[in-house]
Amino acid sequence: MESKGLEGVVAASTRLSHVDGERGELIMAGYPLDEVAERATFEEMTWLMWHGELPTVAELERFRGSLAAAREIPDAAVFLLRECARRNLDAMDALRMGVDAVSLVTGDDIGIVARVPTIVATYARLRRGLEPVAARPDLGHAANFLYMLSGETPDPERVRGLETYLNTVIDHGLNASTFTARVITSTGSDLVSAVVGALGALKGPLHGGAPGPALDMVFEIGDASRAEEILRRKLEAGERLMGFGHRIYKVRDPRADVLAKAAERLFTRAGDMSLYILARAVETQAIRLLEEYKPGRRLQTNVEFYTALLLHGLGFDTALFTPTFAIGRVSGWIAHALEQRRANRIIRPQSEYVGPRYKKFVPLPERGQRDVVEVGRRT
Ligand code: COA
Repeated sequence: MESKGLEGVVAASTRLSHVDGERGELIMAGYPLDEVAERATFEEMTWLMWHGELPTVAELERFRGSLAAAREIPDAAVFLLRECARRNLDAMDALRMGVDAVSLVTGDDIGIVARVPTIVATYARLRRGLEPVAARPDLGHAANFLYMLSGETPDPERVRGLETYLNTVIDHGLNASTFTARVITSTGSDLVSAVVGALGALKGPLHGGAPGPALDMVFEIGDASRAEEILRRKLEAGERLMGFGHRIYKVRDPRADVLAKAAERLFTRAGDMSLYILARAVETQAIRLLEEYKPGRRLQTNVEFYTALLLHGLGFDTALFTPTFAIGRVSGWIAHALEQRRANRIIRPQSEYVGPRYKKFVPLPERGQRDVVEVGRRT
């Protein structure tokens, strides 16, 4: 029997993260999310994912150094990104191509994770008509990304905000992109291929592409008094409210809480809470209306809603949202790829054939007429 979207199917055993959708709980390699997300650096979190324990002082120092030393991307990648910018390509397409070009210099875990922020920042600058900024090896992973975007040393509050975000999205059970990475790895393929495939899966609006539209929706509403009317109109038109609903969580996504807190801190510090207050009002209305229009579906706020707010608070434009998600998630993809390798069996499920059988071949001249379908347009 087919399980649509593989819902409820257990396709891997993992020690990396546990998503409990009924209790609204997310465990990261043994730690509840809110225990680590706001305290660990991204380097510590990546180490935790790859080694199952938080690093010691010496381990962390070495790891930080190795990551910092591997940030530079090959000239060919910069050339490719310039071409992407000239054609104004989607940032996720540029990132995918940039990561592919990393194969020119390395294929290892540290080499990939270190270079993803460089690719994202380089493309963001080129797209704005600015020249790339060279990495600063004295800065941590998150701080250096902020530095490479703006050319200015970021203040610790912004670094903490970004780091909390990256830690929060580093892993999340067998989501679509992680599953993609494991499937690719299970064939004996390499880490760059696994990451490139995962990026392709992450790009889709039903997975990592929702924070941009979630923020657009908040801006479109603009004022809390218009929330009900606009959200109702969307639901009446059969639209999905971006930033709500989840395959696993039937209660509030625990990541939304961590990110809401981080966003609140950033906005408080910036001295303008209006967008935060508006978002809270939109969230309340959305949940109420989703229950009215989709009773019993238990559609709640997901990670994307507060991702949008936090990243906006960091000054990122929406084109940067999904690539920034990828900066965090790439460590998780690689952790899963390494775990898959350790106990590998090729992932090869079955399909249920529902087409006709035993048709007879009809020679071309005898096939009659059919409406012309353009080559390549058939789905
Ligand atoms: N807004 C309105 N309706 C929604 C909805 C949303 N955000 N999310 C789900 N629904 C509705 C579906 O239309 C469906 O209704 P129906 O049974 O009347 O057709 C029902 O709820 C169940 O949805 P389903 O598509 O089975 O859920 P799923 O588990 O396949 O999908 C998501 C999960 C995340 C893809 C889905 O909730 C969604 O599209 N959310 C918006 C995009 C988003 O925020 N993505 C980021 C995820 S982290």
